[in-house]
Amino acid sequence: MKVLVSQPLPEPSSTDLLSAFVVVIGRPDAWPEEARRHLPDADALVPTPREKVTGELLALAPHLKVVANCAVGTDNVDLEACRRRGIVVTNTPGVLTEATADLTWLLILAVARRFREGDALIRSGAWDGWKPMEMMGASLDGKTLGVFGPGRIGSAVARRASSFGMRVVTCDAADGPEAFERLLAESDVLTIHAPLTPATRGRFGEDELARMKPGAILVNTARGPIVDEAALASALASGRLGGAGLDVYEKEPAVHPGLLPLPNVVLLPHLGSATRETRLAMARTACDEAARVLRGEEPRHRVV
Ligand code: DGY
Repeated sequence: MKVLVSQPLPEPSSTDLLSAFVVVIGRPDAWPEEARRHLPDADALVPTPREKVTGELLALAPHLKVVANCAVGTDNVDLEACRRRGIVVTNTPGVLTEATADLTWLLILAVARRFREGDALIRSGAWDGWKPMEMMGASLDGKTLGVFGPGRIGSAVARRASSFGMRVVTCDAADGPEAFERLLAESDVLTIHAPLTPATRGRFGEDELARMKPGAILVNTARGPIVDEAALASALASGRLGGAGLDVYEKEPAVHPGLLPLPNVVLLPHLGSATRETRLAMARTACDEAARVLRGEEPRHRVV
């Protein structure tokens, strides 16, 4: 049986867990061409968030039994098409919770304490010594952290808040307007952890950003399309919002050009889960799920 792994993964994962199968490993810049070439005789696919597994590609794969996504988010996969075709879809929950929560706090602290500007000042050679009012940021102690999507990762972020003296308010994507309005109105730092679904796409648009606390910080380590990036860039440029920390983008890998020159924005290249330990655990989970389905066993993390 043949497994297409969309791009090289941390090993040992495919070399070990998929050793009973013929494994083809693609190149990051060769999707969807390699998918078109290999899906017609593939039994399993192990993609990453970078590769869109569309209905059109799935239609080329008559033998496909499983899409074992190497990610917890599955918005890159056409779940409905898989459901219709009886293709199992799995993900990698749990193993990336702590790494992503850590990176969320890195962004919160970096924005609140103007990390980027301070680092740039030192490197410019222009710093001439301590000044009482130089580069003052915002204290977190006593402030409110708003968590949109208090699932595994959102809850891990919330747990860390007490170490910084922050009070937490949460709102699930399925909660009604009252909880959402409270989140917008009370959060000094609002951090997004909901999955990307039709209900969360564009949830933070111009109107919602305008209802956030003046000077608030917005952080997104979930999925870019939950936030309207153009609206965010203008809320930041006008000073309506105090700053933003982003790890994900609306049209990833593109970043809205309005965000790039802003000093109060920290931008990372989708690194939430990027520790050696976590990325290896994700790769091993995804390969194990593919192998389980190919052996006729029930996967551990079935989404569809
Ligand atoms: C995921 O697992 O969905 C993450 O975005 C990958 O870091």
